[in-house]
Amino acid sequence: MIRFRNVVKSYGPVRAVDGVDLGIDPGELCVLIGPSGCGKSTLLRTVNRMVEPDSGEVFVDGRPVRAHPPEGLRRRIGYVIQSVGLFPHMTVGDNVAVVPRLLGMDKTALSRRVGEMLELVGLAPSWSARWPRELSGGEAQRVGVARALAADPPILLMDEPFGSVDPLTRVRLQREFLAIQRRLHKTVLFVTHDVEEAIRLADRIAVMRSGRILRHAGPEEFVASDAESFVGEFLGLEYGVEILSRRSVREVLRPVGPEESGGEGPGDGAPAVRADASLKEALGLMAARKVECLAVHGTDGRRIGALRMEDVLGTWKACP
Ligand SMILES: Nc1ncnc2c1ncn2[C@@H]1O[C@H](COP(=O)(O)OP(=O)(O)OP(=O)(O)O)[C@@H](O)[C@H]1O
Ligand SMILES: [Mg+2]
Repeated sequence: MIRFRNVVKSYGPVRAVDGVDLGIDPGELCVLIGPSGCGKSTLLRTVNRMVEPDSGEVFVDGRPVRAHPPEGLRRRIGYVIQSVGLFPHMTVGDNVAVVPRLLGMDKTALSRRVGEMLELVGLAPSWSARWPRELSGGEAQRVGVARALAADPPILLMDEPFGSVDPLTRVRLQREFLAIQRRLHKTVLFVTHDVEEAIRLADRIAVMRSGRILRHAGPEEFVASDAESFVGEFLGLEYGVEILSRRSVREVLRPVGPEESGGEGPGDGAPAVRADASLKEALGLMAARKVECLAVHGTDGRRIGALRMEDVLGTWKACP
């Protein structure tokens, strides 16, 4: 869907992008991560021609972006940035409607579309009449996402879209965005320097340094990264724990019954975790309560099995 072939972009002596080859499949969410100044935003902006490469080629749907007029490209590609960039002199509704209006959508359809998009990002239709200055940072970012999705573009470019909100709001926005993505299957290039955010969202992660992609792989494949290498050091030793946030207790619990009795089971009064909790949360609970075995409860509160530390640690064996 998006393909970079040996893309180079320099600013004077600085090679902001230094020969990038990268492919993003249709419906994939690729997270581009790396330290400040490594060229992430520059690379992202070559896709919608806000930046023209010095050499190399960027393809969208198999066609070089050079062959698309920039205006048309920008209407087909949603773009969300950290500072949101809502037009201050337009209401929320008009902001969301900008691209569909350019595409010639009529008034009734427009107003329906705005309502749908606001609902999608968790805002009531009445928000349409508000002004950008009346929004909190998190609300403005939701409107930014709604605006990017409004023309139903197959591709979304997101440059630290949740960068400027508090950590709790950020996690909520990430969850909401993931839920939207599971429904809409956009092809997404998502820039961040936050490793946890990358782990939560990515189908694949591309680690960038000094204009180059050092490694491009699924999040679980980075667990074995050499801690001494740049990639291992950048992702941090806690990566192995963070990645457990992608898996749920349900995946490794031993159900009540014969399988559960493969060792010392959790006694009565053992701490309990819900089956839909993440393995990271379960590990946190084990550490806090100094136990190696938890009771697992279903959503109705009934005990449905047990979770052992060894099974949590054993998840790596199942990783590709
Ligand atoms: N328009 C420009 N003119 C001159 N230099 C630029 C320009 N845009 C980017 N650069 C330089 O190119 C390099 C890469 O910048 P870029 O914005 O792509 O980094 P980044 O990875 O997005 O960083 P951050 O995480 O801080 O946003 C930096 O050294 C930056 O100073
Ligand atoms: Mg940037």
